[in-house]
Amino acid sequence: MKKFTCVGDIGDLRAAVAEALEVKRDRFAFTELGKNRTLLMIFFNSSLRTRLSTQKAAMNLGMNVMVLDVNQGAWKLETERGVVMDGDKAEHLLEAIPVMASYCDVIGVRAFAQLSNKAEDYEERIIEQFIRYSGRPVFSMEAATRHPLQSFADLITIEEHKTKERPKVVLTWAPHPKALPQAVPNSFAEWMNATDYEFVITHPEGYELAPEFVGNARVEYDQRKAFEGADFIYAKNWSAYADPNYGKVLSTDRDWTVDAEKMALTNNAFFMHCLPVRRNMIVTDDVIESPQSIVIPEAQNREISAQVVLKRFLEGLE
Ligand code: CP
Repeated sequence: MKKFTCVGDIGDLRAAVAEALEVKRDRFAFTELGKNRTLLMIFFNSSLRTRLSTQKAAMNLGMNVMVLDVNQGAWKLETERGVVMDGDKAEHLLEAIPVMASYCDVIGVRAFAQLSNKAEDYEERIIEQFIRYSGRPVFSMEAATRHPLQSFADLITIEEHKTKERPKVVLTWAPHPKALPQAVPNSFAEWMNATDYEFVITHPEGYELAPEFVGNARVEYDQRKAFEGADFIYAKNWSAYADPNYGKVLSTDRDWTVDAEKMALTNNAFFMHCLPVRRNMIVTDDVIESPQSIVIPEAQNREISAQVVLKRFLEGLE
């Protein structure tokens, strides 16, 4: 594996989940693999789970880890070619990438969508430059359009909790005061569409995701109808994708908040969210604190998904 930015990079999903469960049974079984190897994690945006879980996964494999917060203590980076650099950005990514790559064996990048220009966001300009110019295996720690480490952890979590072969999984939009990227819902949809689960997406009109991510999912605009018989409810906010409203908040309607009344329509569904979550906007206190909430095991599986990806990179290094 040379890169990990989308579901296609992980190959067969059953094999990936089986490997994840093997790693989870003994996460220190491969400590020799990362000896004298260095992971560089580069953050253009904030993180709690991704930062800690990926670092822990690398340490489990015996790797050294370096972390660079681009916006704190590093030179501000210009990411666009052709710009006259007479502003506050002192270094260009095209020099920074090969320099950073020379200090490490594997690179993780977090670079969110800016939400001002859809074409630029969906071209994935930052992580694509790392893939192109670093000469190192590169993985996404959430890019503009996808969050594959999260989706892989979500899949592992569903596989661990499902009580039937083909569960009904519902991705529901929920309100949030600020504009958020589509990366998590896009990615979750991409991974769910790669399974044989029954997969439904529900959101208010105007919040349609890009068709390539919706895939074969059933889109249901009536949230209560979507919840009927569901085995897993996956809540997430996202901003509008469709033009002319790209990146905008069209609604903060709390009738879309996941609450106990709506969860009662489900097949005693498990509640999932990638975190961080805004309580009583996305989900009520009682639902997220209920026995059916699996947000903590879901976050714990971030260590496992990261470890599988890093392990595969290390196995492929010469
Ligand atoms: N779910 C997730 O990626 O969390 P962080 O933004 O805290 O890394």
